[in-house]
Amino acid sequence: MKRISLLGTLLFLSFLVFAQNPLLIPSVLTGANIELTLQTGMHEFFDGQMTNTLGANGDILGPTLILNQGDLVSFSVQNLLEDSTTMHWHGLHVAPENDGGPHTVIAQNSTWSPSFTILDKAATYWYHPHLHHMTNKHVSLGIAGMIIVKDSEEAALDLPRDYGVDDFPLVIQTKDFDEGNQIVVQSNNDDVVMVNATIDPYLEAPAQFVRLRILNGSSQRTFNLGMTDDQPFYQIASDGGLLSAPFETTRLLVAPGERAELLVDFTDMEGQSPQLLSFASEIPDGIYGATNPGMMAMLTLDGYNPNELNGNDFVILDFNIMEPTSDPVTSVPTALANLSPLLESDADITRTLSFAPEVMGPNQLNGMFQINNASFDMEVVNYSIPLNNTEIWQLTNNSGIAHPFHIHDVQFYILSRNGVSPAENEQGLKDVVLVKPQETVRFIAKFEDFSNDEVPYMYHCHMLVHEDGGMMGQFVVSNETSIDESLRAFDNPVIYPNPNQGTFHFQNSEQIDSIEVYNALGQEVGFTMNNRGGIVTISGLVRGLNMVKFQSGDLMYMNRVLVD
Ligand code: C2O
Ligand code: CU
Ligand code: CU
Repeated sequence: MKRISLLGTLLFLSFLVFAQNPLLIPSVLTGANIELTLQTGMHEFFDGQMTNTLGANGDILGPTLILNQGDLVSFSVQNLLEDSTTMHWHGLHVAPENDGGPHTVIAQNSTWSPSFTILDKAATYWYHPHLHHMTNKHVSLGIAGMIIVKDSEEAALDLPRDYGVDDFPLVIQTKDFDEGNQIVVQSNNDDVVMVNATIDPYLEAPAQFVRLRILNGSSQRTFNLGMTDDQPFYQIASDGGLLSAPFETTRLLVAPGERAELLVDFTDMEGQSPQLLSFASEIPDGIYGATNPGMMAMLTLDGYNPNELNGNDFVILDFNIMEPTSDPVTSVPTALANLSPLLESDADITRTLSFAPEVMGPNQLNGMFQINNASFDMEVVNYSIPLNNTEIWQLTNNSGIAHPFHIHDVQFYILSRNGVSPAENEQGLKDVVLVKPQETVRFIAKFEDFSNDEVPYMYHCHMLVHEDGGMMGQFVVSNETSIDESLRAFDNPVIYPNPNQGTFHFQNSEQIDSIEVYNALGQEVGFTMNNRGGIVTISGLVRGLNMVKFQSGDLMYMNRVLVD
């Protein structure tokens, strides 16, 4: 009761443009060392009322990480939560052991310290926990942060990029609060909208072109963004980078997990108060956020109604337009990034995935949802993808509700929606795609750079309730095939003992020209070698999985050696 009347008040006030809260702008972390401390806290969402929350380096959300392409960054993620967790760099192309998926657990009171080179294009990414069955809890209670990657291609363009001045991070979320103002994690009654954890926010923006970095960090809800009076805006980037050219529009559907960078022209609007809204009345049925979350009114989602956000337009953010800065961006570039989309003819394989509820019938919107009739199993690797494979993934949604599908490791190009080429703003790099009921989406991606047979990458629905419920699968990228092909007649050196403590021996009849050792990250590892009477001893290996590469003429043999 309380929540509904409160929401009504907020909507009323925001349409009148007063009594609001200044938009919180997350602080920035940058440089070669990034330290995140995951902690419990309390946040004042409502005046004088404290809500229990989780956050990174604070009570709620986390700092924005600003990273440069090509930089080697060391992270340290300390877990002071009351649960185990993980930390995933959503959208970044990193080795699986650095990806922070459900297998890379950070126990309570311990610290995880991956380091990796930023390979990604300039775009807006994000980070969030990813422990199986716990992702929704940890994200809904507050842990999520933005990652801004910069590169030279983006730097060469005349774009707003002054963080918090003309370039604004907007983490848009909806949450459900109970009577005691505590967040309800497992809920289809998310009726409170917030941006950067600020309810009913306003932002003072200069009277010029501003850049809005949109992240839909909601557990379930899709937004249909638009400006007051249908003012056109320009989408310049999708999940994984700049589009080839700005895309002018008045509406943009943004599903959970998706990002978009927008340019909005506030030139000559000083003193005005435009708004960013979600035109949810225009969201087609079958998408969480529409009047009917399923394709038919008879399909119902527990707790979805009543909720004034479903199928009704609502304000996300109020702007107060101030005087322009001294050096404003005054136009939209005509061209943005140089993209070279993968072609269908490049594909090595097409994989078909279908989404369906476990139970059909009038209650099918409540899941549990499965991919290819299977629920996620930590012990089952669903696909082994050869390193450097180019693959088409064909996703068919046979359930009654839209699912935002996300894949780790790669950025992809959407080839088609129901056989038709996607709109121009979906022709850039993506890592999340909303697949509507009865729709088939095909995308293409190349799985390069990282292979590891032990640690899988995830793919899943980014509605966190669905993900935690098992609508997820995993794949490894494997280097096996190329190794096997190069084996042929080579008389394999027999390694013993294996596993070992860092020292092993081998004997081999053939001439060995060179030996190299790599760790699980693919980095070369030093060692010492001793040859006594044809028995070679290698010592000084590091703990973990090592790949020992023997070269003999044109032949190459890779052997795995485990040091424990
Ligand atoms: Cu944003 Cu697998 O996650
Ligand atoms: Cu991800
Ligand atoms: Cu889903």
